[in-house]
Amino acid sequence: MLNKNFNTFPILKTERLIIRQLEIGDEQEIFTLRSDDEINKYLDRPISHTLEEARNFIIKINEYVLNNDALYWALTLGDDNTLVGTICLYGFSDENLSCEIGYELLTNFQGQGIMQEAAKEVIYYAFNTIKVQKIEASLHKDNQCSIQLLDKLSFKKIEKADDTNPQLVSYYLKR
Ligand SMILES: CC(C)(COP(=O)(O)OP(=O)(O)OC[C@H]1O[C@@H](n2cnc3c(N)ncnc32)[C@H](O)[C@@H]1OP(=O)(O)O)[C@@H](O)C(=O)NCCC(=O)NCCS
Repeated sequence: MLNKNFNTFPILKTERLIIRQLEIGDEQEIFTLRSDDEINKYLDRPISHTLEEARNFIIKINEYVLNNDALYWALTLGDDNTLVGTICLYGFSDENLSCEIGYELLTNFQGQGIMQEAAKEVIYYAFNTIKVQKIEASLHKDNQCSIQLLDKLSFKKIEKADDTNPQLVSYYLKR
């Protein structure tokens, strides 16, 4: 069994980042993340059209967290509480001792190593606290920035193509 009890939300810290729970006050940044064409280029998800949609998304995500179905963190830099990106763990499987990872950064905060720093901490938490044995990532085959990130984190590519969608590729990291 995985150790999933997210009622006390795990706040993580790294050299530059505080990685905290998503809150309603993040609605503007969540709206930008979920409406920006460049950020969403390779993501298969509905675009947010209004701040209200972003707010509803935050409410829905925190319900998943409350039910121990997912962990979804806001990345903030040092003392500034403003969200610069998000990272999440979801799709937990007690049977396979696995989960999936997802992440995104506002455009102005890309190219600074922020996601590598956050992902290392989240991966450490997934392996050592939740006790997953494997973390998977599914992404568009042309999403080079995401592929580079996964390479730097030592993820391996699953060579077998996704039968349901040939545009997708899958990566995994074992403990
Ligand atoms: C995927 C995504 C988060 C990667 O962002 P990123 O900024 O490239 O990743 P990092 O924050 O780890 O930064 C790495 C870059 O910062 C540079 N960098 C600068 N300072 C650095 C530091 N102190 N430490 C490490 N890298 C540093 C690295 O050289 C690297 O740049 P390069 O790719 O030109 O070599 C981003 O492209 C994104 O949000 N994409 C849209 C959403 C998306 O597609 N998500 C993935 C879904 S599967």
